[in-house]
Amino acid sequence: MDKNDKENLKYAVESVKLHITSDFIVVVAKRRRYVPLDWNRYWTTTDESEEARKFAVKMADMISDFIRDKISINSVADYGCGPATLLFVLAKRFPHKEFYGFDIAGSVIKENTERALQLNLQNLHFEQDSLPNPCKKRKFDLVMCFATLHYVKEIKVAIRNLFELVNPNGYLIFNYPNVFTRAAYRRDIKPNNDHMKRRFALVLAGKNLLSFEKIRETIGVRPRKFYSSTKANIYVLIHKA
Ligand SMILES: C[S@@+](CC[C@H](N)C(=O)[O-])C[C@H]1O[C@@H](n2cnc3c(N)ncnc32)[C@H](O)[C@@H]1O
Repeated sequence: MDKNDKENLKYAVESVKLHITSDFIVVVAKRRRYVPLDWNRYWTTTDESEEARKFAVKMADMISDFIRDKISINSVADYGCGPATLLFVLAKRFPHKEFYGFDIAGSVIKENTERALQLNLQNLHFEQDSLPNPCKKRKFDLVMCFATLHYVKEIKVAIRNLFELVNPNGYLIFNYPNVFTRAAYRRDIKPNNDHMKRRFALVLAGKNLLSFEKIRETIGVRPRKFYSSTKANIYVLIHKA
């Protein structure tokens, strides 16, 4: 039994408690404890889905237009980069700009680093780092964070720290879970889909939901909409004046 199986077992056992009274055994279902997904293991056993890859390519076109428009952008960081489809496209398209991918999973960072080396993309770098408190001290002209804040409990700390990583006159672009995301996940995740329930436990419990107003309160700047597919999936842009 490995570490992940032990975590899962603990997770399951903690959901039920027995109380013995004089006449009855009472079974009390306890709320499941949140056990974060083991992303390092995830990326050793799972490939990026076709849907995620296609969306990353679409996002690469949108971010490319943005970079061409804002000529002052020379360094770009992506937090929670995963397999980094977005960064590989951008690094190839903009050979004179520097791209940095960060992720909590050492396994995906190692794979990306080897691939960047094979493709001789010398402007593409990867490092293990995690939210909400990244170790990185250098700053970037554009910081991105896509489909990652859904897994971060201290989401306000995370966006504050991501904004800290932005150079003056730089930009932060991210998407985040909101009340509509929670409603959509509650509707769409099947009751027997334990993986998805565990994966999105924070969002389903409403523990890390943001809104334009909460973002403004946290960062001190009102975000602008960058892109949205639905009300449940909004990408915002914040300029650091
Ligand atoms: C759903 S994937 C998104 C990948 C990519 N950004 C995309 O949009 O396709 C979420 C990524 O966030 C990473 N991640 C999860 N929690 C994290 C954390 N606390 N800090 C940094 N990365 C994290 C995971 O390892 C995973 O690669």
